[in-house]
Amino acid sequence: MYKSEQLAQNLKLLIENGTWKVHSKLPSLREQVQRSGFSLITVMNAYQELESQGLIYSKEKSGYFVAEQVTTQIPQTHAVVALNPKIEINSLVFKYLKSIQSKHISPLGSAFPDSQLLYPPKLIQIMGQLSRNRHSYDQTTNLPPGNLELRKLIAQRYCMQGIPTDADDIVITSGGLEALNLSLQAITQPGDYILLQQTIFYGAWQAAERLGLKVITLPEHPQHGFDIEAFEQVIQTYPIKVCWFMLNAHNPIGFTVSDEIKYKIAQLLHEHQIHLIEDDVYEELFYGSQKPLPMKYFDQQNLVLHCSSFSKTLGSGFRMGWVYAGKFSEHIQHLQLMSTISANALIQNALVEFLSHHHYEKHLRMLRRALEKNKKQFFQYLKQHLPEGCKVYNYPSGYFLWIQLPDKVSSMQVYEQLIQQQVGVAPSPLFNVLPSHQHFIRMNCSFEWTEQIQHAVDQFVKIIDNRLLKPST
Ligand SMILES: Cc1ncc(COP(=O)(O)O)c(C=O)c1O
Repeated sequence: MYKSEQLAQNLKLLIENGTWKVHSKLPSLREQVQRSGFSLITVMNAYQELESQGLIYSKEKSGYFVAEQVTTQIPQTHAVVALNPKIEINSLVFKYLKSIQSKHISPLGSAFPDSQLLYPPKLIQIMGQLSRNRHSYDQTTNLPPGNLELRKLIAQRYCMQGIPTDADDIVITSGGLEALNLSLQAITQPGDYILLQQTIFYGAWQAAERLGLKVITLPEHPQHGFDIEAFEQVIQTYPIKVCWFMLNAHNPIGFTVSDEIKYKIAQLLHEHQIHLIEDDVYEELFYGSQKPLPMKYFDQQNLVLHCSSFSKTLGSGFRMGWVYAGKFSEHIQHLQLMSTISANALIQNALVEFLSHHHYEKHLRMLRRALEKNKKQFFQYLKQHLPEGCKVYNYPSGYFLWIQLPDKVSSMQVYEQLIQQQVGVAPSPLFNVLPSHQHFIRMNCSFEWTEQIQHAVDQFVKIIDNRLLKPST
């Protein structure tokens, strides 16, 4: 064992047995050198190790402090978790995405709605027409910040929700993920603190990992989805630079946070001058009569960068998204010009035609109806057939069901066994890195209920039944 590991272990004991209380200050590096007799570099390594385990946290120019204890249960309130900044979720996500890629795999693990419901014929027709005209490929008018007409149309959609928006606030990107990644890159430096929801789209973990950020997570609230009191505590405790939240049709769980809570979040962001990257790529997939408001609506100070895309409504194959960047527009354009250069010109032009002739609204109405119907069918079937001890979380938006398995059933093992039988599902370690959250499954329910789909769902149910009969492994 290295000296630093030995020292880290001794210090960990002091935290765990309560000798050092939560939020109390640790001895400074120099004091610790004197106390322990170890070198400065050993002490620094030991402190960094404890920080990476989430046991302590650092404040600029103030030193190190004892962090809150790691929570063990998903909807537990008032618990905050500091996580290892060296989270390695990338390889798991890569392996998972590869495993469900084959067209022979039943796509219940896919993040995209059934492609039968996307790629509307009218849009394909417009693209066909435009594709015969060389001007449609002209890159110059479509370079960052993107096609002006398209940005105006997107700005109009914000205005319709009561969010004053100018075309210059918008930057068109290659999908929502680019919008999110560029926004995060524009705001942070390596080593900055980012606050994520404890269960969140794996793209957020990947981005934090890539940019070398320190991740703090906020547990979900059992009723409201978002725990405003815990949020207030975290931002008072940690020097959070930016938050990355999904508050509408949350992926993977599905909840939408109320306007009241969004308003309070905005007030706290304002008070503490913290930026928010809002992932709202499911904003259009609500079942009710009103589109939920984004955080951008409550943002008085341009602290929120709202990111969305056409991937879940028209098709992810178009790779078309945007960010309401406001004052960050220039910076984001710089970053874009250094990486992907711009979003596809032909598709930007086609979207201008499609949106300006009101085809989008009609398509969205059909899409929402189909998703609601299909998800209902899955829900009813699962409710009837899943064994006791399973719980299905069902919310009126999107196309995912979040399924809680009995504690002793590992979602990773269920996924691995199912993939052998050519069925994909998304296990919770893709979304939540805590060992206590290994028994959830995200199921894509956007598909029409066919014999084939029923067979895939039956295989899922059978594996859980069998695992419950076996002693835990
Ligand atoms: C929550 C969430 N955010 C962002 C993205 C990325 O969207 P896009 O395909 O537009 O890049 C996805 C895609 O699955 C997602 O589920």
